Amino acid sequence: MANLFAKKPLARLMAEAQQVGEHSLKRSLGPINLVALGIGGIIGAGLFVRTAAAIADRAGPSVVIAFIVAGIGCAFAGLCYAEFASMIPVAGSAYTYSYATMGELVAWIIGWDLILEYAVAASTVAVAWSEYANRVLDWFGLRIPYQWSHSPFEHDQIGVHGIMNLPALFILFVLTALLIRGTKESALVNGVIVLVKVSIVLLFIGIGWQFINPANHTPLIPAPTTYVTPQGITHAYGGILGILGAAGVVFFAYIGFDAVSTAAQEARNPKRDMPIGILGSLGVCTILYVLFSWVLSGVATVQDFRAAGREASVAFAITKYMSGYEWLSRSVTVAILAGFSSVILVMLLGQSRVFFSMSRDGLVPKIFSEVHPRFRTPYKSNMLFFLFTGLFAAFVPADVSGEMTSIGTLFAFILVCAGVWIMRRRSPELERGFRVPAAPLVATLGIIVCGAMIYGLGWTNWLRLIVWLAIGLVFYFSYGKNHSRISEPPPEMPEGIKLTT
Ligand code: ALA
Repeated sequence: MANLFAKKPLARLMAEAQQVGEHSLKRSLGPINLVALGIGGIIGAGLFVRTAAAIADRAGPSVVIAFIVAGIGCAFAGLCYAEFASMIPVAGSAYTYSYATMGELVAWIIGWDLILEYAVAASTVAVAWSEYANRVLDWFGLRIPYQWSHSPFEHDQIGVHGIMNLPALFILFVLTALLIRGTKESALVNGVIVLVKVSIVLLFIGIGWQFINPANHTPLIPAPTTYVTPQGITHAYGGILGILGAAGVVFFAYIGFDAVSTAAQEARNPKRDMPIGILGSLGVCTILYVLFSWVLSGVATVQDFRAAGREASVAFAITKYMSGYEWLSRSVTVAILAGFSSVILVMLLGQSRVFFSMSRDGLVPKIFSEVHPRFRTPYKSNMLFFLFTGLFAAFVPADVSGEMTSIGTLFAFILVCAGVWIMRRRSPELERGFRVPAAPLVATLGIIVCGAMIYGLGWTNWLRLIVWLAIGLVFYFSYGKNHSRISEPPPEMPEGIKLTT
């Protein structure tokens, strides 16, 4: 029993993080890379697809307020992540923080939960990528046939069934190969993609601003009512409830800043740069999101978004209202494709780094922490996760819900907020590169806001989370618990590390 709650001492974590040599990850990322990594993981389907859904179904123009609410919730969690990442610069993110504060069982639960955030999200976004890749191919008169771009569980109107989703598999393969090649190389490609997508978001904001019709922003908060979607689902629309519902929907758009913390072991100066990476990317994206949603909801009417069909709605708004800017509509599609690619890249990176730490601790097999002798990346883990995410993306339909990703992420956020608070009480003397201001208040507010969003996701999602965690516990009790290395002696401490905790 004792092992279940055994905590990993901080000094041991630090010693492990400081180990250098052929079995360690390479410290190659600077502050700009880290901010770009965050933005790479953040801007994607959430902004380009879900904003329109939030306007249509929940909030109308008050989607802008919803972005601010979700941004504030993420800021609380982001501050807590920043403190932890600057204090424990190890690859495992929330998993590692929980191991240090709440013990092995909770750490396992969160490590398992993070598969939802990273691997499942990567597969889901790969399926969306496939959809958009076909759209771009369409411009050139090409198209991958339905059978080869859909899972066996889907069929079109004339009854053609999918066989497997090849484009989704393709993008996962390419990005896995890039990750294996090197973190620095991956960061470089990510940087280029980030530049493309941020430029196009800025262009849309700049050009679209002139096309805002003030009537579309009046009233900013529509009167509370309900809206029944074409699928027959009833949502609260307008008023405070509409804003909160929309905040839950657009929360997905912010997911990804925490992935920066999984790369802590590859940062050159994690104490200083981790907070910059996490809070910098979150800050930049919040500003872009608020402006983008202001313009989008000002250019087209709510009826347009209801009629347009979700996926096409940004391009649709441009085509319908911004005459002469057809090229922008196409650029947005390219930005979406690029955006999806970097989200998948960062999610795959995050996933392998969490399992890297879990494997070092013995909770999952050793293969997940074997580092390539030349590239210094966990290549076997990358390949295994390619298989896992590839199978998922090739054969499971696209409606693997983004909500699973959201609930998994929110759960991790809550534990990180709680962990910061516990750590402040237990080990106040530890050096922190960054300190959360008014820590107990911020941590509590973080727990409340994320808890409220989990509540808003509804019981089907709670149930899915519980089932997923139950499967994880079976693995823990049949493998992890027996192979845990928590009771082994710690590695030798490099000079300058005090064994006080
Ligand atoms: N934030 C990421 C996206 O919106 C997950 O695609």
